[in-house]
Amino acid sequence: MTREGDNLEVAVIESNPTITQPLLSQLAAASFTPRDLAPNRALLESPGWSGPDVILVGLDDDRSQRLAFARRLHGTYPSAIILGYTANYTADALGEAMGAGARRVLRYPFEASALRQAVSDVRDELRAFAGPAPAAPQVQTRPVITGLSATPGYVSDKPNQLIAVFSPKGGVGCSTLAVNLALALQLLGHQTALVDGNISFGSLEVFLELQPVRSILQLVGDVEHMTSEAVLETLVPHPSGLQVLLAPLRPEEGDSIRGEHMQRVLSTLKQHFPFTLVDTWPSYDERVLAVLEIADIILVPIGPDLPAMKNLNSFLRVARLLNYDMDKIVPVLMRANSVPPGHLKDLEAFLKQELKWRVVSDGKRATAAANTGTPFVLSARDSQISQNIFDIARYLGGEYEAGEPASKAKQPASGRFWKR
Ligand SMILES: Nc1ncnc2c1ncn2[C@@H]1O[C@H](COP(=O)(O)OP(=O)(O)OP(=O)(O)O)[C@@H](O)[C@H]1O
Ligand SMILES: [Mg+2]
Repeated sequence: MTREGDNLEVAVIESNPTITQPLLSQLAAASFTPRDLAPNRALLESPGWSGPDVILVGLDDDRSQRLAFARRLHGTYPSAIILGYTANYTADALGEAMGAGARRVLRYPFEASALRQAVSDVRDELRAFAGPAPAAPQVQTRPVITGLSATPGYVSDKPNQLIAVFSPKGGVGCSTLAVNLALALQLLGHQTALVDGNISFGSLEVFLELQPVRSILQLVGDVEHMTSEAVLETLVPHPSGLQVLLAPLRPEEGDSIRGEHMQRVLSTLKQHFPFTLVDTWPSYDERVLAVLEIADIILVPIGPDLPAMKNLNSFLRVARLLNYDMDKIVPVLMRANSVPPGHLKDLEAFLKQELKWRVVSDGKRATAAANTGTPFVLSARDSQISQNIFDIARYLGGEYEAGEPASKAKQPASGRFWKR
């Protein structure tokens, strides 16, 4: 049974004595019930112990060993929440912790209130999953995954979705949105694939700090004979469990990839993953149009300025000409808070549509994330920019359909945005 409020039992997995004692004392002073569970202690079978509420893992020494211990403990007491702490927020530490099932990573030293808040936030999130989330994974034929996803496989009765992120104008945040949204979906428990559809100048391996050991180039050839196995084997796993299909490393190699390859690859991924996201580049190139044609949803990030609105309008004209279902085109207003609200109203009046999906401006985090290879939904999950992305992920995952939480009033309740 989980305890609420005070007296939360916290199993601390730490073997550095200069950290263990002060941390245990700090927790006890703040009305937690701490338990020292250095990885070499065999305390699991204490008679009558119902297990901890929180498994708190120090990530700065012996990380793999401690996380393995945390996972074993979690296997015995699955209602416990795994949290990490580290003085060094590195991509490796975060990725490995998330891969072992940690729901949050705190920066050490931390206030007891930050720990309590993290527990409360995670419990809220888990309650949202409580209804429709049996543990069995939805993906039948899954590619090899080196890390575990942060939450158990989320089973939905919604059909699998192929989501393209496209902007007719460059530099507005397509890749930022695609990477962080794909990761947010994965962290929410939806097995997700991310494809670098920026065939000649893609750089998702940099955004996600992946080794570009394989790329879509390996799938070029006879489209008719491209097998599911070949497509799945070409994916590169991120420690979060997200599976990524990278673009060729050399721009000129992209020339051999045609629209029909893209369609075949994406259709295959869609059969296997609840969500497949595709980053694109700002062009009406045959390969981009092939992606947009078969996408179920086209997210269009736009800046809050008139030229961006004009570009969006011209894309909508093209989409009508190509006979796309206009309901699948969803604008996402980036840097939404960088202009006064009155200006946003003018933009909506110009478009004759409400701009419901919004992501705040946070150039510092967005740039740092791209430079370090740790997307902000991982490194700063509680920041406003990450929360905006998680909100979009929750809507896509169908989490808010039954009833819209008041705090999410700015976000749409269903997926219809553009009328013919
Ligand atoms: N919400 C945001 N607030 C502030 N800056 C952002 C935001 N989203 C993205 N950026 C920044 O905008 C720049 C462009 O982002 P990104 O590379 O994602 O765009 P893009 O549309 O994929 O560009 P390209 O056309 O070059 O592929 C980056 O410096 C990124 O850090
Ligand atoms: Mg890009």
